[in-house]
Amino acid sequence: MPSILILYYSRNGSVAQLARHVARGVEEVPGCEARLRSVPPVAPVTETARPPVPEDGAPYATHADLADCAGLILGSPTRFGNMAAPLKHFLDSTGAEWASGTLVGKPAGVFTSTASMHGGQETTLLSMMLPLLHHGALLVGIPYTEAALNTTSGGGTPYGASHVAGADGARPLLDAERELARALGRRVAGIAVRLAA
Ligand SMILES: Cc1cc2nc3c(=O)[nH]c(=O)nc-3n(C[C@H](O)[C@H](O)[C@H](O)COP(=O)(O)O)c2cc1C
Repeated sequence: MPSILILYYSRNGSVAQLARHVARGVEEVPGCEARLRSVPPVAPVTETARPPVPEDGAPYATHADLADCAGLILGSPTRFGNMAAPLKHFLDSTGAEWASGTLVGKPAGVFTSTASMHGGQETTLLSMMLPLLHHGALLVGIPYTEAALNTTSGGGTPYGASHVAGADGARPLLDAERELARALGRRVAGIAVRLAA
């Protein structure tokens, strides 16, 4: 059964919520399984930051998850228009996978959450695409045939799924944001199945 790795960092839960909808989309594709994995936080002294297992949320990713997956979807909160350091830190440890071509030819997508509407969603999504391109993954966005892309009053972009969480992070996901997160998962999984066939 092709497994799609949904690999994310979330400090306050908005990206984690999006990740669950992306996973639903993956599992709408017959025969596809979603594997949710997170990355630990980092601190200026990184050795002290990592408990062995997260207190809540998805288990921490291992490098074997990258090898096992048929596709990959990265998620991160926007931090100054960029992906958050914990996800970057994990990606920076994937030199061996880059050298051996572990992700070459695998479909990949991205998702994010911001506090504000114009706070850098697209730039963050693009920042996650750069390491995916170096890894040889096949980038998958969201096409405008998804009706919610034309009607959303919050997040959801052709570059990937997104959510506008508000200054206090409490804004619930809009229907359109949920739909587009599912559409991303469905699309990456559908392409992974077709590539495997
Ligand atoms: C250091 C830092 C930088 C941030 N930079 C931005 C930003 O550039 N634009 C924005 O809209 N929100 C920014 N935020 C807010 C987060 O992107 C937002 O709260 C997001 O929904 C958090 O996701 P999470 O709940 O999964 O942790 C920033 C938050 C922090 C802590």
